[in-house]
Amino acid sequence: MGFKELFKVDFSASCSAHARVNLIGEHTDYTGGFVLPSLLNFQTTIQIDKNDTKEYQVYSENFNEIKKFNDFIKSKNNDWIDYIKGCLFVFYDENKHIPNTHLNVYISSTIPMGRGISSSSALCVSFLKSLNSFFNTNFSDKHIAILAQKVERNYIGVSGGIMDQMVSAIGIHRKAFFLDCLSLKFELIALPTDWVFCLVDSAVQRNLRESAYNERYNQLKKAEEYLGAEYLGSIKPEQFDENKINDELILKRARHVITENARVLEAKECIINGDIKSFGNLMNESHQSYAKDFEASTEDVDLIVAKSITSGAEGARLTGGGFGGFTVSLIHKNKFDEWKKNMKKFYNEKNIFEM
Ligand code: GLA
Repeated sequence: MGFKELFKVDFSASCSAHARVNLIGEHTDYTGGFVLPSLLNFQTTIQIDKNDTKEYQVYSENFNEIKKFNDFIKSKNNDWIDYIKGCLFVFYDENKHIPNTHLNVYISSTIPMGRGISSSSALCVSFLKSLNSFFNTNFSDKHIAILAQKVERNYIGVSGGIMDQMVSAIGIHRKAFFLDCLSLKFELIALPTDWVFCLVDSAVQRNLRESAYNERYNQLKKAEEYLGAEYLGSIKPEQFDENKINDELILKRARHVITENARVLEAKECIINGDIKSFGNLMNESHQSYAKDFEASTEDVDLIVAKSITSGAEGARLTGGGFGGFTVSLIHKNKFDEWKKNMKKFYNEKNIFEM
């Protein structure tokens, strides 16, 4: 089915947004640090037009479901429609002169959901971009990213950072998107052509996502209080005075973020200088820190990471918010066939994706 078949008219605005993989820099965005994601081929596309009914009509191809509503009240059971309602709420709030306009909305997406590659940000960014185009509001891509983050934080209620929305709104394929999450200044850096980044889906749905994510967020804010710092991102590893935190758990969480920030800065230099083996080592260190200090990995994920390394990857790590989802591995192109052959012994080919 398509927009025309369903709504019997053509759409008048359409925008897409891509999923992302974070190459390195986990939970460093809302702590005022740095991240290094890149875009994936998976994408969400939204088509819209206004309708003559008294309600919004939103169809999702993936859920094969149409939802109709005329208020922006969030549902009680984490429904996908909340992201659409949240975008409308935030968009109208930002544009008080635009009257409430009932729309037909058609959503199609190739992004696996709940796997840590930012399906929700791509949904919000593509919808907000479509609204921006439909209502001619001329918002910049950065403004769209900020609005999409507001949807997550103020409407959905996840204390997320700005990484996913920024890269989804602004990123370019085959470029790493280095972002300073405080100033929102970014650099696009070409990825090495003789290396492959490959994702393996652990197929673990990130059920704990919202509660565990918010818990980690609060622990890191606690660490900032202990250290008397506005942001952990401003603390270099050599300045980190562990004695100031007399809570073992908070200390571990802070250690992850402070060392991770330093790794992102180093990883950026490695790509620029073509030192890709060192980049791989940093990915491995990042995973250890994410698993041990941040305790955001799972057994299945750790196993994929370990098998990926023994199969020939230079580096491998869990990507995204944590608690399951995708891993990302870095493999030299000459070793790629062998790596994939090995991995296929353990994992279904349909769970392995080349970037
Ligand atoms: C999720 C959030 C991001 C970021 C990552 C962890 O994807 O949306 O803002 O915090 O987790 O790095």
